[in-house]
Amino acid sequence: MYRGTFSIVDLRAFAHNLRVMADRVHPETKLLVTVKANAYGHGVAPILEVLTKSNVVAVGVASLEEALQVRQCGYAKPVLILGSVGAWELPIAAQHQIHVTYTDAWGDIDALPPMGSEPLHIHTAFDTGMNRLGFKSIEHAKVVLHQILNRSDMTWSGVSTHLACSDGPSDQHALEQIRRFSEMIAQLRALGYDVPTVHASNSGGVLRNGQWHFDMVRIGIAAYGYSPDESVLPMPELRPVMHMYSSITRIADVLPGETIGYGATFTATKPMRVATVAAGYADGYPRALSNSGKVLVCGQTAPVVGRICMDQLMIDVSDVPTARVGDFVTLFGNAAPRSWTPEEWNRISPDRRREWLLKSFESDSHGEQNVLSLSDVASRAMTIPYEMVCQINPRVPKLYVNANIS
Ligand SMILES: Cc1ncc(COP(=O)(O)O)c(C=O)c1O
Repeated sequence: MYRGTFSIVDLRAFAHNLRVMADRVHPETKLLVTVKANAYGHGVAPILEVLTKSNVVAVGVASLEEALQVRQCGYAKPVLILGSVGAWELPIAAQHQIHVTYTDAWGDIDALPPMGSEPLHIHTAFDTGMNRLGFKSIEHAKVVLHQILNRSDMTWSGVSTHLACSDGPSDQHALEQIRRFSEMIAQLRALGYDVPTVHASNSGGVLRNGQWHFDMVRIGIAAYGYSPDESVLPMPELRPVMHMYSSITRIADVLPGETIGYGATFTATKPMRVATVAAGYADGYPRALSNSGKVLVCGQTAPVVGRICMDQLMIDVSDVPTARVGDFVTLFGNAAPRSWTPEEWNRISPDRRREWLLKSFESDSHGEQNVLSLSDVASRAMTIPYEMVCQINPRVPKLYVNANIS
């Protein structure tokens, strides 16, 4: 490790969040965790290792590519593709026992080629108000189900819907979706269908209403440590899994009238001490935080000044007199441990820095007050934690702490 910019992924926090969410659902309700987009940017392989040891029954992904990657990681439990899958991808999914969600793009089911030695597991989605995927009527569902059930190489494995506003300020929209969904399930049962696993709730749905859990829930963001919306569904029990750090590469005095950064969007009105930090939008720190972001340095908050550059950003450390070149800066998450000093970083050889950072992070107590909440950082950037964790660039090394949890 040469550049002092990295993220810490705390696998014990992930395991803790799984337990918190398992406690929130009915004992008989099963848990699926979404690991799409490289496990929401956390790195799919280490996340799957934790999931394998947990009581989570399945994982959700966005595409066949992601599903195959999950299999390559050695994950043996069911994998469900939540998005659309083309007809020609179906035999491959069947071969790897990957569950798929039905879409109209398959065309005539009777005309699809044989699936091979393993049956294709199909989940049928109902569109109850998201207008993204699924049947809008029972009539449509009946035609497709008739064809699926007629094929010996296909198994009807699940019925789903997706909530558009489970974390919204009002629960009216979600209640209406659940009402429609429950009605559709009841109609299917009344028609004599042996309805398989029923699932509807994302993290917001689980946290919002115990009546929306059905047979299985599909959680994502809560497992990674965030409520889908802190202001509506506060979840202090959850622990952020990812923390992001960078370091100060230069400190300079800036005089009144001088400008900072591209476009000269910030003009000093008083003498300032300005620090340059080794992270930018190419690392996933949003450019929208230009002149509006805040970071933690030496236990204090420091504002971002000027535009975020591709690889660097500037912060005002006028009120942080102890800030020095080499100090670690928290971009989001727990404050950097005190033992992360510039002297230690320089003393330790680059090939041993990972180990040192991990050990000191694990042993640090991280005072509660010294946390830069990703929800706050994301809302300053007019986005959500989902987007921020997904867009951390692969060039930012991920360091996995507490990897040996059981
Ligand atoms: C169909 C489906 N179910 C569940 C989830 C998980 O949602 P969340 O991360 O809000 O829990 C997603 C994520 O976007 C999804 O697309």
